[in-house]
Amino acid sequence: MISVRSYAKINIFLHINGKRSDGYHDLQTLFAQTELHDTITIDEADRTELVCNVPEIPVDSSNLIVRVKDILSSRYGLKKEYSINLEKNIPAGGGMGGGSSNAACFLKAVNNLSDLGLSYCDMAEILAEIGSDTVYFLHDKPCYAEGRGEEIVSEAELPSVPVLLVNPNIHVPTGEIFGGGNLKLTAKADLSRMPLVVGYEELLAMLDNGLEAAVFAKHPVLQILKTTLLDSGADGALMSGSGSTVFGIYRTDEQLSGACSIIKEKFADFTVFKSRIKGAG
Ligand code: C5P
Repeated sequence: MISVRSYAKINIFLHINGKRSDGYHDLQTLFAQTELHDTITIDEADRTELVCNVPEIPVDSSNLIVRVKDILSSRYGLKKEYSINLEKNIPAGGGMGGGSSNAACFLKAVNNLSDLGLSYCDMAEILAEIGSDTVYFLHDKPCYAEGRGEEIVSEAELPSVPVLLVNPNIHVPTGEIFGGGNLKLTAKADLSRMPLVVGYEELLAMLDNGLEAAVFAKHPVLQILKTTLLDSGADGALMSGSGSTVFGIYRTDEQLSGACSIIKEKFADFTVFKSRIKGAG
């Protein structure tokens, strides 16, 4: 039996460079994991069954964990079956890559548990097939990435500062936002020239998300949330991925705690997580 933590990510920046001929968008991003995590427990069994503590999470082949298992069985000759328990804390459809993280962590764990002998490249190929931000979760550290998000350029180090993750319980379909116009386009940069060790002020200066305007236009409460985070003491605030989670960044835990009370009072229906950036792995 093996039990692994499957961490949530935020995007410190997400620049959209343009639309590609395959319908996807070229982007450049800095992914960072936070301490918010799901827990996946896996044991070899007679038949594969996924159980999850959150009823809304599908446990059939639309779950990315099951997708990974099916690819391993159909194309990599995997004969084993697994009983999988998914204890979910990361909100689904919240821009924090919960499903993608689960897929990558399951793949890494099964590779170890059953000695599958898959290389990093094998795992990256499987994961790129089922999503765009899935490959990143093979890494423990923050990473610069480009392409659809699946091309990892380099790992980086960020300060492990407190971050308040606020999920307004709005599900934003990523495809609709990318396809809906109002995207802010940014010229492609050379990510290999970005700092590998990022300081606090540098981190704040990087905060930018080309999808924010499109999502805020559909869900104006997210703009209000971001403004409230900044007014209540965050040194920086940004929507993560295609939303709907908006995060605030703080230098100290005291700063975060004060802001957390204000946010909880003003947005009683939202889900708030006190967390921390996983800076250096
Ligand atoms: O690949 P993933 O499932 O994360 O993306 C969901 C949808 O978001 C894609 O089907 C695509 O419409 C859009 N997308 C995009 N460009 C990206 C990533 C996602 O247009 N780089």
